[in-house]
Amino acid sequence: MPPTLKSAVTYSSKELPEASQLIKLFHQAPWAKSRSFDDAKDMLRHTDLTLCAWDGNQLIGFGRVLTDFIYRATIWDVIVDKAYQGQGVGTEIVQRILNHPRLKRVELFWLCTRRPGFYEKLGFSSKEQTGMVWSRGKNRRLG
Ligand SMILES: CC(C)(COP(=O)(O)OP(=O)(O)OC[C@H]1O[C@@H](n2cnc3c(N)ncnc32)[C@H](O)[C@@H]1OP(=O)(O)O)[C@@H](O)C(=O)NCCC(=O)NCCS
Repeated sequence: MPPTLKSAVTYSSKELPEASQLIKLFHQAPWAKSRSFDDAKDMLRHTDLTLCAWDGNQLIGFGRVLTDFIYRATIWDVIVDKAYQGQGVGTEIVQRILNHPRLKRVELFWLCTRRPGFYEKLGFSSKEQTGMVWSRGKNRRLG
């Protein structure tokens, strides 16, 4: 059962989540539906920082960071379990990333999203820079 109180949710960046729990979250999002257990496990090994939201031992929210810890950090895969959305969990994940002690020297955080509304409320702006994406899938025929 989802909580009715936000206080039931705890946050941690100390331990990596199990790939099996993460895959359950990924499979709720159209952009991550086809991700596999093995790839998620490898991805976690190579990620600089993860931020997890837990209800007991159930992973109910996630976000991750790739960074040099000085100049740049990119935020990826922010996702909240459908049953827990709209209760401030996503906001808390992003704010805890932006204020994380290991990231306090980072000059600029960057992310890629199809849902700018959520991030604009958190202070992100799309006016500063233009993001561009090179997709292996879409460029395969050019190779
Ligand atoms: C987007 C997502 C991470 C937000 O998490 P959440 O816990 O539901 O968000 P919050 O409860 O913290 O909402 C914060 C605010 O953003 C708004 N918001 C939430 N999702 C939004 C969206 N997709 N578009 C625009 N605004 C959104 C909320 O209405 C809320 O506004 P309010 O403070 O004025 O009420 C979550 O809905 C999700 O996992 N969606 C599916 C995966 C996804 O699309 N992720 C996008 C990452 S690129």
